[in-house]
Amino acid sequence: MRAVVLVGGFGTRLRPLTLSAPKQMLPVNGVTMLERVIMNLARGGVTEAVLALGYLPEVFQEAFPSGEIAGVTMHYAVEPEPLDTGGAIGFAARAAGFTDETFIAINGDVINDLDIAELVAKHRAFGGEGTIHLTPVDDPSRFGVVPIDEEGRVEAFIEKPPAGQAPSNWINAGTYVLEPSVLDRIPPGEKVSLERAVFPAMVDDGQLYAVQEAGYWVDAGTPQSYLQVALDLINGVQANEPAVAADSVVDDEAVVENSIIGSGAIIDRGAVVRDSMIQRGARIGADAVVIASIVGPNALVGNGARLSDLTVVGDSITVGANTEYSGAKIPETD
Ligand code: GTP
Repeated sequence: MRAVVLVGGFGTRLRPLTLSAPKQMLPVNGVTMLERVIMNLARGGVTEAVLALGYLPEVFQEAFPSGEIAGVTMHYAVEPEPLDTGGAIGFAARAAGFTDETFIAINGDVINDLDIAELVAKHRAFGGEGTIHLTPVDDPSRFGVVPIDEEGRVEAFIEKPPAGQAPSNWINAGTYVLEPSVLDRIPPGEKVSLERAVFPAMVDDGQLYAVQEAGYWVDAGTPQSYLQVALDLINGVQANEPAVAADSVVDDEAVVENSIIGSGAIIDRGAVVRDSMIQRGARIGADAVVIASIVGPNALVGNGARLSDLTVVGDSITVGANTEYSGAKIPETD
């Protein structure tokens, strides 16, 4: 099986972390989001994948020069300009020659344990042009809501319904099985939204099906959900993974609770780190307090500083001693 992996977005909601690294190259407990996605694809029988690249493509190519991730042969397709989700799938599938058999398309920032092989089997049984994985969420208003009939056929594709008006809480979870004929719906070189144009047209033709599957699923595209995925991993909500890299240094008189401490990071005397992610090479100064926040790689949080409520500190940024931030992006981004 082949897969197109969408990784070309700007990741604006995760700025400033995504100013220096594309979203899917951010670490989730020492392993990049992209590798976690590819590992699950490999488990489901994918042997070949193309990355639909746009923003900072060289970061991916430099990180995986061998052209292989988790045993999956990788191809790289760099868009000349952002083509949106549908245009990107068309561009990358054509560039890699994935035009003659059923393929997977997947958002590169979705962390889940979906059984891809099973989704493919259900797609074949439905016999439509496409099958979408659906997951339930409490608040569907920032997602694409997808009601289906008793045969699994999609009845409508409602992108970001106003709060309280969604007909269902099952949303598009970002993994699709597609027939190559879907590519005929995507004119080459044009900006096309999969969710707003291609899928609604397939619904009109009765060609789109969906599978409700409520396993572990997080769209790691916001500071809150990115942090949640990492904390879920150390708490055994998925697999139990170590919280503190072996080569990090935590002072005996520092407090670290429910947090990920990356490779080479240093937590100084009297510092408190709780429900947070401290990335590789970062330093938390003496008596600083970091709560429910993300400190980017090689950043320095000065002595006595206080960060809370999903404050995000960018790559190599220094936070002044004794300063206080709540829900901030440092530096500020728009
Ligand atoms: P925000 O800027 O924070 O909204 O995120 P995003 O646009 O990077 O990601 P979003 O979740 O909206 O998009 C879903 C997936 O499609 C992500 O994996 C993106 O990387 C990818 N994506 C979005 N737009 C494009 C595009 O124009 N080209 C390519 N290749 N990928 C895209």
